[in-house]
Amino acid sequence: MLLWSLIATRSQEIAMSRKSRLVIVANRLPVKRVKRKGKLVWETSPGGLVTAMTPILNDTGGSWVGWSGAAGKAPPAFTHENMRVHPVPISAEQLEKFYGGFSNTTLWPLYHDSVRTPQFHRRWWWPYVDVNRRFAEAVADEVSPGDMVWVHDYQLQLVPGMLRELRPDVRIGFFLHIPFPPEELFAQLPWRREILAGMLGADVVGFQTPSSARNFASAAKLYTEAKGPERGMDFRGRKVRVQAFPISIDVKHMEQVGMSAPVTDLATQLRTDLASSRTGDRRVLLGVDRLDYTKGIDIRLRAFEELLTRGSLTADDCVLVQVAVPSRESVDDYAELRAYVERLSGRINGQFGRPGRAAVHYLYRSLPFEELAAYYRMADVMVVTPLRDGMNLVAKEYVAANEGDTGTLVLSEFAGAAHELGSGALLVNPHDVDGLAATMEMALTLDDRERQRRMGLLRQAVRKNTVFGWAESFLEALAS
Ligand code: ADP
Ligand code: F6P
Repeated sequence: MLLWSLIATRSQEIAMSRKSRLVIVANRLPVKRVKRKGKLVWETSPGGLVTAMTPILNDTGGSWVGWSGAAGKAPPAFTHENMRVHPVPISAEQLEKFYGGFSNTTLWPLYHDSVRTPQFHRRWWWPYVDVNRRFAEAVADEVSPGDMVWVHDYQLQLVPGMLRELRPDVRIGFFLHIPFPPEELFAQLPWRREILAGMLGADVVGFQTPSSARNFASAAKLYTEAKGPERGMDFRGRKVRVQAFPISIDVKHMEQVGMSAPVTDLATQLRTDLASSRTGDRRVLLGVDRLDYTKGIDIRLRAFEELLTRGSLTADDCVLVQVAVPSRESVDDYAELRAYVERLSGRINGQFGRPGRAAVHYLYRSLPFEELAAYYRMADVMVVTPLRDGMNLVAKEYVAANEGDTGTLVLSEFAGAAHELGSGALLVNPHDVDGLAATMEMALTLDDRERQRRMGLLRQAVRKNTVFGWAESFLEALAS
């Protein structure tokens, strides 16, 4: 609570000193419409960005511009818990082309090392431009001279440039939550100049890692007239600051929830349910991801299968729990991945399970926060193996939720989180089935001292950087 108010105060100072408000612009609003006692009401959606921004917006009287999550007409702007909410309407056709198409079948795979082939279609590009313009116009209506606008993520990369044309009198920040790809990959994008110029419309362009910031700066120099060093690029007569601001979680909250009595009870119950085996000492590996092909869930399952096939550990010694959150189900690659992951889980259980003792527990659902915390608490080994990830908050949540120095984190070299957590985690190449199987085995058999040493390092790293520190450092850069 203290941290919240410190940040709110600091942001208020920044805002007051400029007589400015903060406007957040993100594809999704921080609220969703739900039915309660037969009535439709707006409820806050959980999530890191919402947690970080809510106290700041509440204290500075700011607003949030975004899409409500439903196709078609949008209600007029309204106030929700002291925050102004400005919904942007997106039609069903625009959604298919802007969201399913350009955002999630062109940009998403391209920016994640092309782990699926990105598709480039002019019929998706124009709706992306139109929706970005609609967002920029909505923000232009919301702001007053001197306000600060913070635009988020790959769905809205054109907004900073469009907004600057409409409202040169505001400070504009942009943060990319996913990786910015190496120049050789980005070069494929037919609209690379437009995207870069859109982002360079901001005063501060933030990334998760220094390598993404570098990739962006070199692409900007190659394909636009931008020049100069990252921290102060010259673009069309203005300075643009390009910098890494690694995002994090509300560490204290995760620690408190993880330690709470209901979560402790649930974790004990889950452990009892899962650990029943002949030896009574079954270790639990856990994966928690959106069901996305960038998360490496399929290779993780194959590595677990390999581990059991080798026979040094059996399904009596260990079990894998994979929680997969439904995501972007209208996109073909996601539907195919689901079918594959479900086939693999069935195949592993068919070969290694027996009645009352599955080798893999596969849960296809989103969990309430406390239940998720209980899964984190009870797992001996957390397996976070994305093929590429901007940051990966699950890795940080696992560390914060665990009590004392229990637990081991297996982490992909290609997650942004590896920069901060690399010294305590067991790092893996998530494409390497044999290497991953060997690392899982190592994690399951690590001696207590080494496990504690590693968890101590992880805890230190996670506590050093909270989501509030992240928001504060970005807003300070934007205000300066
Ligand atoms: P991404 O943003 O790509 O989905 P992150 O790991 O950075 O990946 O963030 C995922 C967020 O979703 C985390 O905050 C995590 O708590 C939440 N989450 C993941 N799995 C579940 C689940 N099964 N139920 C509820 N929340 C989940
Ligand atoms: O990590 C990128 C991101 O867009 C997050 O901001 C978001 O929470 C997640 O992916 C899910 O995306 P979508 O809005 O497409 O469900």
